[in-house]
Amino acid sequence: MRASKLALFLVIACLAVALLAKPAKPRERLTIRVGFLMVKNDPFLRAMLGYVTTAPAVDIALRRIDKERLLDHVDWNITWLFPQCDEALTSGNTGDLLRDYEVDVIMGLPCAKTAVISGASATYFNIPLISYAATWADFSDKSRFPTFARTVGSVSQMARALIKFLNFFQWNQIAVLYTDDKERRKCYNINNELQDQNAATSGKSLQFNYIYSIVKNITDEAMNDFLDQVALQARIIIACFDNDVDKRRFMLLAHDKDMTNNEYLYIMPDYAPKENAATIWNSTTLINNISDERDNDAREAFRAAIIVEWNTLREDDLADFKTEIPKLMRLPPYNCTTDCNWPDAHYGSTYSPYMHDAMYLYARALNKTLQQDPKQYRNGTKIRENCEMTFTGVSGEVIITKDGERLPNIRFEGFDANGMREHFGLIRTSQDEKAVQMLELNNPYTLESVWTSRGGQKPLSVPICGYAGDNCPVSFMHQYFALVVSVSTIFALLLILVAVLIAYNFYGRIQRKRLENSLWQIDNYELIQIDTAQSISSSEQSVKTTSTTHSLPSLFRKQTAKNGRWKFCYRRKELVAVRKHNLSLQFNHDDEAEFRAMRALIHDNVNQFHGLSYDATGNLSVWKALPRGSLRDVLEKKTISLDWFFKFSLIRDIFEGIDFLHNSALRVHGRLTSKSCLINDRWQVKLSDYGLSCIRNVEKLPSKGMLELHNCTP
Ligand SMILES: *[C@@H]1O[C@H](CO)[C@@H](O)[C@H](O)[C@H]1NC(C)=O
Ligand SMILES: *[C@@H]1O[C@H](CO)[C@@H](O)[C@H](O)[C@H]1NC(C)=O
Ligand SMILES: *[C@@H]1O[C@H](CO)[C@@H](O)[C@H](O)[C@H]1NC(C)=O
Ligand SMILES: *[C@@H]1O[C@H](CO)[C@@H](O)[C@H](O)[C@H]1NC(C)=O
Ligand SMILES: *[C@@H]1O[C@H](CO)[C@@H](O)[C@H](O)[C@H]1NC(C)=O
Ligand SMILES: *[C@@H]1O[C@H](CO)[C@@H](O)[C@H](O)[C@H]1NC(C)=O
Ligand SMILES: *[C@@H]1O[C@H](CO)[C@@H](O)[C@H](O)[C@H]1NC(C)=O
Repeated sequence: MRASKLALFLVIACLAVALLAKPAKPRERLTIRVGFLMVKNDPFLRAMLGYVTTAPAVDIALRRIDKERLLDHVDWNITWLFPQCDEALTSGNTGDLLRDYEVDVIMGLPCAKTAVISGASATYFNIPLISYAATWADFSDKSRFPTFARTVGSVSQMARALIKFLNFFQWNQIAVLYTDDKERRKCYNINNELQDQNAATSGKSLQFNYIYSIVKNITDEAMNDFLDQVALQARIIIACFDNDVDKRRFMLLAHDKDMTNNEYLYIMPDYAPKENAATIWNSTTLINNISDERDNDAREAFRAAIIVEWNTLREDDLADFKTEIPKLMRLPPYNCTTDCNWPDAHYGSTYSPYMHDAMYLYARALNKTLQQDPKQYRNGTKIRENCEMTFTGVSGEVIITKDGERLPNIRFEGFDANGMREHFGLIRTSQDEKAVQMLELNNPYTLESVWTSRGGQKPLSVPICGYAGDNCPVSFMHQYFALVVSVSTIFALLLILVAVLIAYNFYGRIQRKRLENSLWQIDNYELIQIDTAQSISSSEQSVKTTSTTHSLPSLFRKQTAKNGRWKFCYRRKELVAVRKHNLSLQFNHDDEAEFRAMRALIHDNVNQFHGLSYDATGNLSVWKALPRGSLRDVLEKKTISLDWFFKFSLIRDIFEGIDFLHNSALRVHGRLTSKSCLINDRWQVKLSDYGLSCIRNVEKLPSKGMLELHNCTP
């Protein structure tokens, strides 16, 4: 019994404990009403940030919020309104959200000019305002927009990054082309910020040589007009387009004007790459499956472009996220049908990652706010302050400052020869908005390799020869080309002429020497011996007739008999005395020079030297033969009596002959004897047997043959 009592007591006790342990009341569930202001069915904005390509990003974010149990006791009531980019509609819809729907937060706001209207209302009601696409710099002003936060970077950060980028590469003169769609005004704002920030640095870092805007209709004429003007004013061009298709059109027009060469650089700022940005030159992917067959030109042209954009995740990494969006869009609560059939609605929008991150950011900020003070969940300022955080979102690493500003990293990329993107480097924005931003080159790129696909040369803000190409001093060669050519031609001709003259002279001298040598070189067959030649009897007769006293042949025969060294011949019908030397000498140049000199001697008292020949016995010297023989022959003849006048004239002849020889090239006679003093038929003495020093050096003369003066001068 006691046991049953005890058991009953235990059961009652347990029931009591269970009743007492029950919480006082369950935690109150909170319904958060979210109002979205969006753009729908705008063909220009659909793929970028339109409703049907963006809305499900919110559901994906809510999934993550659930998974992380961030707001377990929160129910979501979401309202989508579509004021487009219309000011009146935006004003009205903002009022609807705040008054009728009593929203706790307003999100969306893709159009800059209308976002300001919502911002003003949100400020008045102190309702948080979180944008995924409003980039206007004005929203950074927290005195005007204390409840505003965003997951997209502001235009001022883009402008700062651009200026940093330009300064880094020392480009200080630029031109700007921007399009203005009058709605989102992305490029309009970038240009404004560039000007403002440059002015803030007292305008020293940049000089804007030319600024051109194309409003609404981006015609070929307008772009061509800009290109024509800019050719004379800049080489570094910031070309900002609201639309990728226009980027490609512009680059093709520049290509057609040969303005995509290595001199030009087009810097294209943007916020986020679209799905097709990797091949922006490819018309098929860019323009809804329509190829215009200019892809090669476009790919070529984009090598002159550098894209400066937020450093988001790669398209590949976003592919799962972006392909899920159209799938979710066709399910409840969207039940999208016709709107989702557009070709560009098959993929998540460019800004859908920012939408995801905006929703997640708000949830985190709300979580924090609820922890601090659950009553403050509609306090816009507090929520904005609690947005200060860092997390990994779909758009990359999300860093939000206390001001609710996203700090983006900005990358700059080029295109290689195959048209593929090259990721060159990063410009990091810092927590301190004013802090200097760092430009980092992505390994393995170097400052030089950034320009590899452009011929390796960094483009200059001002080309070396100026924009019009007329600033370079004309080079000497260029200016005086014709003169230089003609002068050098004349000079070359003169050189050739001189060479020819020298060669001719040289050849002439060789020829002359050969000719002169031929004068003293006598072929043996020219010498016809008197003893043997029968045919010369007529010549004998003729010689005989010119002689006065003697029968010449008989005299010669006598002499020949007397002196075996001599023989008498006819050479060219002239009587010559031929002396055998019994030597076979080879003559050198000096010898030949002497023979030529001897051949050239002409004087009344010097016997003519005919030359040298040779036969089986060796060298022969050939002299003119004189009929009266030598002075010795005459003196030995007793029949001839010599008077003083006659003797004097003989002595004078010898003297003059010697004098002449001494003043000639021979300088000496060398073997003057009475035998070498020949006498012609007019009793004139002619010195013979001179020269031939080479022969004389070898030949030994009998000493008695030497001149005995008493013989000559009896
Ligand atoms: C905030 O999030 C944490 C998880 O990160 C969760 O434990 C906490 O309960 C949340 N606070 C509120 C108020 O929901
Ligand atoms: C969302 O809020 C609106 C207005 O407050 C209300 O009419 C609507 O029924 C709510 N929807 C849900 C699902 O609670
Ligand atoms: C601009 O484009 C619109 C629509 O495409 C067209 O109606 C209008 O005539 C164009 N304006 C000019 C100036 O070309
Ligand atoms: C352009 O893109 C399409 C589709 O991705 C592809 O089939 C085509 O080969 C590309 N064109 C060139 C020139 O790469
Ligand atoms: C592009 O064309 C190909 C083949 O012609 C087709 O399969 C594809 O669905 C088209 N894509 C779009 C977006 O129209
Ligand atoms: C969407 O479709 C589902 C059924 O597929 C339906 O129950 C729901 O009411 C629809 N919602 C809207 C807003 O049309
Ligand atoms: C809202 O938050 C701000 C900042 O935390 C605070 O100064 C202000 O008093 C709050 N407003 C209300 C009504 O509590």
